[in-house]
Amino acid sequence: MSVLAIIGGQWGDEGKGKVVDLLTTRAHVVARYQGGDNAGHTVVNPKGTFRMHLIPSGIFNPEVTCIIGNGVVINPQRLLEEMNTLREQGISLDRLYISETAHVILPFHLLFDGLLEESKGEGSIGTTRRGIGPVYTDKAARVGIRMVDLVDEEILLSRLTYLVNTKNRILSQVYGQPPLSLHEIYLQYLEYGRQLAPHITDTRKILFRALRDGKNIVLEGAQGVMLDLDFGTYPYVTSSSPSVGGACTGLGLPPWAIQRVLAVSKAYCTRVGAGPFPTEADEETAARLRERGHEFGTTTGRPRRCGWFDAVAMRYVVELNGVNGLAITKLDVLDEEPVVRICTGYRLNDTIVQDVPNSLLLWRSLEPTYEEMPGWQTSTRQIRAFEDLPTEARTFLDRIEQIVGVPISIISVGPNREETIIRHKVL
Ligand code: IMP
Repeated sequence: MSVLAIIGGQWGDEGKGKVVDLLTTRAHVVARYQGGDNAGHTVVNPKGTFRMHLIPSGIFNPEVTCIIGNGVVINPQRLLEEMNTLREQGISLDRLYISETAHVILPFHLLFDGLLEESKGEGSIGTTRRGIGPVYTDKAARVGIRMVDLVDEEILLSRLTYLVNTKNRILSQVYGQPPLSLHEIYLQYLEYGRQLAPHITDTRKILFRALRDGKNIVLEGAQGVMLDLDFGTYPYVTSSSPSVGGACTGLGLPPWAIQRVLAVSKAYCTRVGAGPFPTEADEETAARLRERGHEFGTTTGRPRRCGWFDAVAMRYVVELNGVNGLAITKLDVLDEEPVVRICTGYRLNDTIVQDVPNSLLLWRSLEPTYEEMPGWQTSTRQIRAFEDLPTEARTFLDRIEQIVGVPISIISVGPNREETIIRHKVL
């Protein structure tokens, strides 16, 4: 038995989808545990190029059971669209299971996400406007609708009646917006429930049985630890727990079951939306990295902010999650850089600190300190063994290992499955 959690080690978009896709050849179950369709990743494999938001990357392997766990928030319309696109491309969805207790994104969650952002003006977070904050708010307030409610006409009507009436009062009295129709939402969501019913089940039991039977289970994190509601750069975070702890609550998995945690990070750093980003590069460098790394959001198409590898934040992520291996992606994006940089400390009021702060004020006042090293200025895309990498690239990766304190198990040198260097067995 092996349970491997794959988490985002930065601010999301690290290339987790490729790593999960790569490992599914050895997995029996792949399970998503948090977030919603704010996530987005592109998987390139022999079956084609796929843009996914909700469905676990294991779906391309017909032997793999895919789970959307209770910690995920689901926009049923978007999920059905994604399912249909995959079906049209010949991918079977027979092994896709959706937790009965996952919360459902409703039309007013999308509306409120936008209205809240606009009301914050300059202080807006730059959310994906997928309704993520508002749906998790309702979950915590114990008024949310869960997937299991969509397949029960009476419960759906009674819970929706309370919710829509309450939201309509806020919409009209706080935001001066027209009310939404309870009737239309009810019929629409009942229909979603009808279509999704064959997939809705108690996913905790599936996982428990897989665990008991010694199967290989991959836990697929969305977003990244630096966007974690508790441990990220609050309030510039998402509303779920991309950290490994989220996998226990988001799937109903006992903590002892998770033996390995692999953090996926780019060889540089990106962030979408507002918030602290100490190693953000000057516009010229950022533009180069963005261009070479195609750093535009899969979900919103927004250009990503780009900068250098932040080993201070990475070490924090390693400590917090018990990370025992790294996957470094997009090494090839640095192929043409004459000089590469690793942030090894933060300068704060004339002292160098090695820890991430908790206050937004401190986050904003710190300055990164860098170790600079020569770039390799040659293509790494054809390389499949660590020893064959240029000396400068090996020095760069060795230095990351030394500072962060965990081995780099996987190195990705291009978007395709085979453009990968596997140094250690992780599953
Ligand atoms: P939300 O999750 O849509 O509420 O957005 C909150 C913050 O998280 C924003 O800065 C988003 O840009 C960021 N975010 C959410 N999902 C992702 C993701 O999958 N990749 C990168 N950033 C994300």
